[in-house]
Amino acid sequence: MSRNVLITGGSRGIGLAIAKELAKNGYHLAINGVRDEHSVIEVLEDLKQYGSKIIYCQGDISSNEDRIKILQQIKKGLGVLHVLINNAGVAPRERKDILDMSADSYDRVMDINLKGPFFLTQEVAKQMLQRKNERSDFKGCIVNVSSVSAHTASVFRGEYCISKAGMSMMTKLFAVRLGKEGIPVYEVQPGVIETDMTAAVLEKYQKMVHEGFTLVPRLGQPGDVAIAVKALVEGNIPYATGETIKIDGGMSIPTL
Ligand SMILES: NC(=O)c1ccc[n+]([C@@H]2O[C@H](COP(=O)([O-])OP(=O)(O)OC[C@H]3O[C@@H](n4cnc5c(N)ncnc54)[C@H](OP(=O)(O)O)[C@@H]3O)[C@@H](O)[C@H]2O)c1
Repeated sequence: MSRNVLITGGSRGIGLAIAKELAKNGYHLAINGVRDEHSVIEVLEDLKQYGSKIIYCQGDISSNEDRIKILQQIKKGLGVLHVLINNAGVAPRERKDILDMSADSYDRVMDINLKGPFFLTQEVAKQMLQRKNERSDFKGCIVNVSSVSAHTASVFRGEYCISKAGMSMMTKLFAVRLGKEGIPVYEVQPGVIETDMTAAVLEKYQKMVHEGFTLVPRLGQPGDVAIAVKALVEGNIPYATGETIKIDGGMSIPTL
């Protein structure tokens, strides 16, 4: 059976790598991003080469109206939604000490990184539960892309850390609520991955990697995260839900 997947923030970076990995494996995709469709036309054409159905659902996941619109577009363009990948996220526009963080920056990051994914998941979960009596072994799957920042304190982007720590609890909450219904919920925690998000601080991280910051001696690539997400979506980590997979080159292991 071909499955339909929504990847928020699927138009570039980690989300796009996940999209490529899933398209290659026959999944039909709804790609979400904030830019208009015209700006991502080449990305969509590239994804279509694998033969899957690809639609673009432009919308800001922090907006209730946009979330509803995105799900309506999927219903019309693909039909039933089987898998949700909560990947879209932003860093604070400015890295500022928590003593100087503004309420506006806090709200923006929390709305996009946590409130949006929470209420999108709530809606998708309800749709999945409405279909629970259908004769299918696959009831659905949800993957949340959080970050090592869920457990690593960075005082210069505290709002980002709080949003990702919240996503960890959100993963557990939905895993508990949906576990008995046969819908696994997972969290993937990337470390430092080379994307537009890290472009401005890449030199600093490259130097840190050189000095032994990660056990795997390189920066992460979007494809590293995509491979893990594909394994989860394909059901290749059975008998697990609410679990976290760190794709961070080993940087999170406390050492003495
Ligand atoms: N890169 C890293 O080192 C790293 C590490 C740990 C975790 N992460 C997490 O991984 C996820 C992807 O990061 P990335 O590095 O791939 O970021 P990225 O290259 O900056 O791409 C962000 C994606 O999210 C979309 N997006 C941003 N705001 C949105 C909104 N309000 N509504 C819908 N879509 C929105 C963007 O859409 P447009 O293309 O339309 O702008 C884009 O597709 C994020 O949740 C991030 O926190 C990244």
